[in-house]
Amino acid sequence: MKKIILIFLLLFIVVEAKYLDSESCKECHENIYNQHTKSMHHKASLFSDEVHRKVQELSDDKKYSCALCHMPAAKNLSAIIRGTENPKAEEISNSDGVSCAFCHQISKIHYGKSYNINFSSTAFDDKPTMFGNLDNPDSSNKHNSQSSDIYKNSEVCMGCHSHKENSNGFEVCNSKDQHDSRSDCIGCHMPKATGGNENFNKKGRSEYTTHNFLGIRSDEMVKKSVKLGLSYKNENIELSIENKMGHAIITHPMRLKFVKTVVLRDGKTIWSNFSQSPKEDKEATFIIVFKDSEEKQAMPHNAVGYELNQNLKAMSSKIVLYSVPSLQKGDIIKSTWVSYVVNPNIAKKLELTSDEITKQYIGDEVSIVIK
Ligand code: HEC
Ligand code: HEC
Ligand code: HEC
Ligand code: HEC
Ligand code: HEC
Repeated sequence: MKKIILIFLLLFIVVEAKYLDSESCKECHENIYNQHTKSMHHKASLFSDEVHRKVQELSDDKKYSCALCHMPAAKNLSAIIRGTENPKAEEISNSDGVSCAFCHQISKIHYGKSYNINFSSTAFDDKPTMFGNLDNPDSSNKHNSQSSDIYKNSEVCMGCHSHKENSNGFEVCNSKDQHDSRSDCIGCHMPKATGGNENFNKKGRSEYTTHNFLGIRSDEMVKKSVKLGLSYKNENIELSIENKMGHAIITHPMRLKFVKTVVLRDGKTIWSNFSQSPKEDKEATFIIVFKDSEEKQAMPHNAVGYELNQNLKAMSSKIVLYSVPSLQKGDIIKSTWVSYVVNPNIAKKLELTSDEITKQYIGDEVSIVIK
């Protein structure tokens, strides 16, 4: 009985309380707010991310289980997940993505087999507690502040960025770190900038943590992701590929990443590692292709296994050898790291045409001249 009353009370509080949207933080945390609204966290819901929406539509399931991570702030989260209510664009808690208040009220991560779950206190009362990692935070009339280790050791990311199984119990994404379970996500994805974290900076802080959460959609980040090396020995081109990230090269099955290598003589290409599709050179391509129960190529929702799984673990490297005999003095060997947000074949099928999704993001480039 006690339990039932408690559940009733909790529901009552959730229904009655005003939703604390990300815009309400702008008044005091303007820089962070401006960064956040450009990030994929803010755009994670099916109302702002076309890629997510189109993939979701493929599985004509009434249940929107994706909400757990893509619409986590929804007041009616469990009804949306069960499929008894539909997400609505005009309901701000449904279109606010991974909101400020949601992320900052995560108190604990539950580690599950199919996926992890965030325990978020998401209280929208007059003075909720925001967790963070500030030393001696100043007082605010809008919220209490409290330090929590998970905002320091990056565990707060693992509620959503760990792994996910589809309804067949097959793991379709994984950014779980194979290097160390406490990989410093925050250190790489939330670099510091000069200035205070709040408009008045009453504490006189010299730097604050940025919230752009740049990833594959940033040339600057893609340049930092992988380091390439080249040499020419015994008639072989030796290409080294080093993953410098705290996670595998492919964390999401929509992506395509690869190395393009060419040999130039007098400005003309006399050799390249592939002609049409990078998949011709599997060893220098990073891609996950699923298959369904009939061994046919599949989208994540109906996958039961891999048709192709070319990946490289965190902080590790590999060498690819190409036998290219009799290169001459003055020939130039050139390798380039290329990334796509969505594999062009899938983009075509899903009719995704925006530049952000179809363009090539260019990373590390190296070249050597034969002496
Ligand atoms: C356990 C949390 C979780 C659940 C549940 C989840 N996702 Fe995601 N999703 C993520 C994370 C984290 C990313 C970013 C991954 C990356 O970039 O490596 C992501 C990214 C995506 C992307 C790429 C979007 C882009 O614009 O680049 C698509 C598509 C996607 N998810 C579809 C879905 C669909 C469809 C569902 C529901 C069937 C779903 N996801 C459920 C966590 C989740
Ligand atoms: C009326 C101004 C005001 C508003 C509105 C406001 N904050 Fe704050 N917030 C502050 C102040 C002041 C600090 C302390 C800054 C410092 O010590 O440098 C702070 C600190 C924080 C911290 C750090 C806590 C810690 O212990 O590390 C977080 C997280 C935070 N705010 C989140 C939010 C979120 C999310 C919202 C919107 C829902 C929000 N704030 C709205 C004034 C505000
Ligand atoms: C409540 C769930 C949730 C939490 C917590 C979370 N993320 Fe995300 N994150 C997502 C989802 C969902 C996406 C993909 C959004 C999309 O593309 O539609 C994403 C995308 C990203 C991206 C990729 C942006 C791009 O370019 O595609 C980065 C980087 C990222 N998150 C880093 C982090 C880090 C670091 C943390 C911890 C401080 C974190 N996230 C915490 C859900 C979450
Ligand atoms: C040593 C630096 C480093 C660490 C540590 C790191 N990342 Fe990344 N991450 C990167 C770089 C650089 C990229 C952009 C290049 C890319 O996506 O290929 C990236 C990309 C991403 C993306 C987008 C990937 C995609 O293909 O869509 C997500 C999501 C992400 N990181 C989340 C995390 C999370 C969560 C952690 C902690 C477990 C983490 N990162 C730790 C450097 C790092
Ligand atoms: C994906 C999760 C996530 C989202 C979304 C998010 N934050 Fe944060 N935020 C963090 C983490 C993690 C830290 C702690 C970083 C650290 O330890 O340096 C942080 C730090 C802060 C701080 C303390 C600043 C500092 O210099 O350390 C403030 C203030 C803050 N966030 C406000 C906001 C506001 C306002 C929004 C929305 C406009 C927001 N956050 C969105 C994860 C998030």
